[in-house]
Amino acid sequence: MPEAFNGQLAPELLRYLRSAQRVAVLTGAGVSAESGVPTFRDAMTGLWSHYRPEDLASPEAFAQNPALVWDWYAWRRGLTEAAAPNPGHYALAALEQRFPTFTLLTQNVDSLHQRAGSQNVVELHGNISLARCSNPACPASRTPAPIEAERSCTICSAPLRPNVVWFGEALPKDALSMAIQAAETCDILFSIGTSSMVYPAAQLPDLALSRGAVVVEINPDQTPLTAEATYALHAPSGVVLPALLAALQV
Ligand code: OAD
Repeated sequence: MPEAFNGQLAPELLRYLRSAQRVAVLTGAGVSAESGVPTFRDAMTGLWSHYRPEDLASPEAFAQNPALVWDWYAWRRGLTEAAAPNPGHYALAALEQRFPTFTLLTQNVDSLHQRAGSQNVVELHGNISLARCSNPACPASRTPAPIEAERSCTICSAPLRPNVVWFGEALPKDALSMAIQAAETCDILFSIGTSSMVYPAAQLPDLALSRGAVVVEINPDQTPLTAEATYALHAPSGVVLPALLAALQV
């Protein structure tokens, strides 16, 4: 059983954080759990209980049944658009103001960090509110646009697809290189609300550790990162992050 966070933050962690110049934060679905957005590894409910996300979020699934994949994303988009940022998102937006360099690397596609006021956000897995052409040779495959009713590209007629990264696909090049740079140059990296199972995002904390940075995990559960992290705070991010912000303000 992981040791629960008791509201106290290690004084040496706070000291380190107060003097940090470059902060990197990696977030995953757990950060939005308290906003009511289901995480990826939660069992799916209702209509979707017979599917696994891995069987819907893939190029193969889209090729086989684009309508089914679109319906699933429309359901997820409905949830994310109806959701509001939670205290964890707001605390991250406030923390950004305290450091000269602060880069928020998110695996989330729900825009909740931006809606909470975070500015320097790198979306590693795309954004669920945008669509793009599924034909990689078409210019519209590089210019995502808000999702409209029509489902095919006005330039080449190929089907439009959600602007998200699917299993088996590479991350957007620019986002990945910004993430690697942030992990390689930060003083401290927070890994928050992610199961640390999906690569290459899961490699970023290792990269930071290998360069001598402090790595802090915030997650109610244990993950493959827990044993390596410098600090592991086992509680919801909506509890730990406001506590961290308050402690820094004292
Ligand atoms: P997961 O669903 O794999 O993991 C969510 C993590 O959040 C788990 O470790 C939970 O313990 C933790 N968690 C739950 N509630 C929390 C809370 N209130 N505060 C903090 N942590 C909490 O989600 P990700 O790690 O984001 O990729 O998944 C990574 C990627 O796998 C996703 O971006 C998606 C998925 O396949 C693609 O679609 C490419």
